[in-house]
Amino acid sequence: MEDPKFFEEVVRFAKKYDILVVHDNPYCEITFDGYQAPSFLQTPGAKDVGVEFFSFSKTYNMAGWRVGFVVGSQPLIAPLEKFKSFLDYGVPSFVQLAAAWALKAPQDCVRETAARYAKRRDQMIEGLAKIGWQVDKPKATMYLWAPLPASWKGKGSLEFCEELIRETGIVMAPGAGFGPYGEGYVRMALVTHDKRFHDALLRLKKFIK
Ligand SMILES: Cc1ncc(COP(=O)(O)O)c(C=O)c1O
Repeated sequence: MEDPKFFEEVVRFAKKYDILVVHDNPYCEITFDGYQAPSFLQTPGAKDVGVEFFSFSKTYNMAGWRVGFVVGSQPLIAPLEKFKSFLDYGVPSFVQLAAAWALKAPQDCVRETAARYAKRRDQMIEGLAKIGWQVDKPKATMYLWAPLPASWKGKGSLEFCEELIRETGIVMAPGAGFGPYGEGYVRMALVTHDKRFHDALLRLKKFIK
């Protein structure tokens, strides 16, 4: 979150229109260069209007384990607890125990994970710049949010991604899939093996010419 004023705006808006804010915050620990991602709940007044979700998928590489937690004030959490109890039987206890262990154990692994993504980010951004594709450095997450390369300006992100996968075998997420403001961008997920980025850059170089 770039601008702390944004969360203040959200709190004001939610209060005005009586809206519950659900802040999905699964990447808050995958941060780089000393950046600390803020919690929505640290914003004055946020606890009256919102809750925050955390997933173990990214921080502890537990994707697919279906475990996370939600934090917030009792009146806002209670209906969710009730609803969940009608809906299913909850997370298996061995998964809950593993998650509790992940929180209690030394957290070096979290910084190691973040450092691995930071290294991939730097390698990829440098490589993309060399082939003429300028992308900003993100402060967090395992993703790059990239404007379409110059040769594709004015064309659709979905069209770009479809042709990209056909021509190169590389998968990117079209920005349009994240809402109308995402058009003109693609999301790259740096979640493959370190050794594959070099090959990806060679294929991209040919593709964006
Ligand atoms: C913003 C966001 N929220 C939630 C999730 C999913 O988390 P989980 O694996 O706990 O379902 C993802 C996963 O990609 C995500 O990007």
